[in-house]
Amino acid sequence: MEKLLSKIPEELRSLISKLREQALAQDLKVYLVGGFVRDLILGVKNLDLDIVVEGDGIKFAEDFVKPQEGKIIVHKHFGTATVFLEKIFKVDFSSARKEIYPKPAHLPIVSPGSLKDDLFRRDFTINAMAISLAEGTIVDYFDGQDDLRNKKIRILHDLSFIDDPTRVLRGIRFEQRFNFSIESKTLKLLKEAVKLRMLEKVQPHRTRDDLILALKENNPIGNIIRIKQLVGFKFIHPKLRLFANNFAYLRSLEKEIKWFDKNYPQRRGLDVWLIYLIGLVDSLKPLAIRNICDRFGLRKGEEKRLLGPKQVTRRFIVDLSNPKIKPARIFALLNPLSYETVIALKAKYNNPVLKRHIADFLEIYNDMCIFVSGDDLHCLGLSPGPRYQEIFTLVLNAKLNGEVKNKEEELSLIKELLNKRHPILRGVAPNSKGTLP
Ligand code: CTP
Repeated sequence: MEKLLSKIPEELRSLISKLREQALAQDLKVYLVGGFVRDLILGVKNLDLDIVVEGDGIKFAEDFVKPQEGKIIVHKHFGTATVFLEKIFKVDFSSARKEIYPKPAHLPIVSPGSLKDDLFRRDFTINAMAISLAEGTIVDYFDGQDDLRNKKIRILHDLSFIDDPTRVLRGIRFEQRFNFSIESKTLKLLKEAVKLRMLEKVQPHRTRDDLILALKENNPIGNIIRIKQLVGFKFIHPKLRLFANNFAYLRSLEKEIKWFDKNYPQRRGLDVWLIYLIGLVDSLKPLAIRNICDRFGLRKGEEKRLLGPKQVTRRFIVDLSNPKIKPARIFALLNPLSYETVIALKAKYNNPVLKRHIADFLEIYNDMCIFVSGDDLHCLGLSPGPRYQEIFTLVLNAKLNGEVKNKEEELSLIKELLNKRHPILRGVAPNSKGTLP
């Protein structure tokens, strides 16, 4: 045990020591459980601790957070608490519990239980191991270590997928992540649950969460392929099917995401799951995509980004594919769109000119700004108002098109516009001096 713990970061080890000291001082049986234990044995980095207390988990969490700088969120209803420490560490606490599923695919009824009950209610043997903090030993009632060694995903009891059908997606996710295989009886029961369309009976937000997790994995396309083989996509939408062209699009998305990450690490990180979801639902009409958003309770901003590539017009694509298009027009077309939509368009259209224009937008135009400010316009005798924004847009367009390069040229352009009485400046008297201070 000590050997295993010696491999984790020092701060995490000292955190675990503190938890251990508190457990010993309060004479409580406290365990590390779940994914952290699995990853510790596998030697995979995991900073999320899951703690189970045979007793009051919330009280243990409150006592733990008191002497240190941390934030605690208590979910009284679920008997759990989450503690956030120094931003990177998240520790989930819960009281050991027993679960009974009164109805398939519905949330369980929970009551206090032993550690064994708590481990037995879990999804797979590899996630159902614990480490006793007091004794520093691994507790492995269901041979999770054997399954880790043999690279097997195995459920703990025959009704596991019926009780909680989201485990179908979780099983695929762990299979793909660790390159394990789903053990034969588990696979048979998984297929039976699929046949009974159990996944369609779960509250949609729960399948949504597991679908998003699958799309956030390192190998989302592997997950999608496996979902196609074992489950199908009816749980997303009754009409959703994927063919070779959809997979070609998904691969192209993967390539463009890598391109973006490599070239623009300093920009806002992409919501990669959303880009893969764009690829996944590409064969559907906008109305069907809206229905998915409603059913899955996606946020308005997510819905907008998901629908982005569907909402560009033919004219938009023709313009963006025109080698003679001016930079200001490229900017006007792409700037209102999210990065996710822009990346999806770059992946979707196999047109080198369009791809180059998108790359230019991200590389040059997206970051371009002008030097003149509101103060400068004021000095020129323009009173503040919506016109300011219109002037800035004119100047920016000129800059994008290479017609002005520095502040002097920007100001000259504005003065020229004033003298020629450009339509947006109509009704504005130029400064009596017509010069800058
Ligand atoms: N769990 C479960 N059934 C579920 C969800 C979770 O049994 N439908 C249990 C598993 O024991 C899991 C633990 O709760 O290990 C924590 O859940 P989660 O954080 O989702 O899983 P991790 O195993 O930590 O997965 P990941 O590495 O993806 O964070």
